[in-house]
Amino acid sequence: MPEDTTQDIIFVTCTAPVNIAVVKYWGKRDEDLILPINSSLSVTLHQDQLKSTTTVACSARFKEDRIWLNGKEENINQPRLQSCLREIRRLVRKRRSNRDPGADVLSLSHKVHICSENNFPTAAGLASSAAGYACLVYTLSRLLSVEGELSTIARQGSGSACRSMYGGFVQWHMGMRADGKDSVAEQVEPESHWPELRVLVLVVSAERKPVGSTAGMQTSVDTSSLLKHRAEAVVPGRMDEMIQAIRKRDFSTFGELTMKDSNQFHATCLDTYPPIFYLNDVSRRVIGLVHRYNRHYRETRVAYTFDAGPNAVIYTLQPYVSEFVQVVKHFFPPETNGEEFLKGLPVGTVSLSDELTRAIAMDTLPKGIRYIISTKPGPGPRMVEDTSLHLLGPDGLPR
Ligand code: DP6
Repeated sequence: MPEDTTQDIIFVTCTAPVNIAVVKYWGKRDEDLILPINSSLSVTLHQDQLKSTTTVACSARFKEDRIWLNGKEENINQPRLQSCLREIRRLVRKRRSNRDPGADVLSLSHKVHICSENNFPTAAGLASSAAGYACLVYTLSRLLSVEGELSTIARQGSGSACRSMYGGFVQWHMGMRADGKDSVAEQVEPESHWPELRVLVLVVSAERKPVGSTAGMQTSVDTSSLLKHRAEAVVPGRMDEMIQAIRKRDFSTFGELTMKDSNQFHATCLDTYPPIFYLNDVSRRVIGLVHRYNRHYRETRVAYTFDAGPNAVIYTLQPYVSEFVQVVKHFFPPETNGEEFLKGLPVGTVSLSDELTRAIAMDTLPKGIRYIISTKPGPGPRMVEDTSLHLLGPDGLPR
């Protein structure tokens, strides 16, 4: 950082990924610190297809901290945002007392302007808060040159955000301590570990989800005995099995565990009182389609998982992607309004055999799926070097 920055504004822009859990987080033991009742495990998706971008500017000129999300100014006083800002500033203070006492006076007293956007629809059930908070915490850490356990700070923005601090395959250890210091994310394997793994996001609806995950899981903790059983008796063993399957690149075990875990999560939602429904008719048809497809080949070639919304996320392997996309198109004939049905990584084309479509034997549902995003595992947060990509202009306001 330059010697005298009082007249200047310092900008840093970073990007962070979405992650999709294969062992789900659902339920907190501490609402303020965001400490979970079970460990969880996710795959970080590639930022070429899905990412959050955040610019943070810092200056003596700024009168107050401010934030803009997807072009609109939001309330900076939200408790979760305040937790992230407070914890990052705490790290700055800690470093200052450890090292050079004068060095960081500026960055501590200065206010920040934050501007963040996603390259995918917010609230479409695509874990936008995870990418958003991971990006905020990572960008602040780069701007203020702090190091330390950043995943515990991202966790205080949104639980699942701690897993977006790493690429590849990531576990979030639930931890035992009351202060949450051991509730951290850790990379299990990097994104390069399983090059054949592919991900298809089947976007069913981009409408706002009915019950947000924060409120939903709170009601589940209060009312579902199945959730308690899951956290205590199912997840610990499932975490070990999942990690082994990933290490061995054993898709059939990985896929089966992923589907069972998604189903159990949605079963706990049904066991919540009053019950919560995230899956809709299209989601259930996708589940049926996947099982019939796998049964036809007598092996698990594709696996589904659903978060707090109706969109399906499909994990599969490269050799099966193009055929499965054709199958989806066949049973959910897309709208022909010019919008591309398949976005992201190209999948190639194959023609479907009558034998396969006959074996699946499902009614078609035109326009049931709006579009597919084709992607793969990817890296963690990154700094953007190109200064023309800052989301804030030279005056520190959104461009
Ligand atoms: C179903 O991380 O969005 O996607 O911690 O309250 O912000 P808060 O919840 P959030 O919950 C994600 C729930 C999930 C499962 C998962 O990602 O593990």
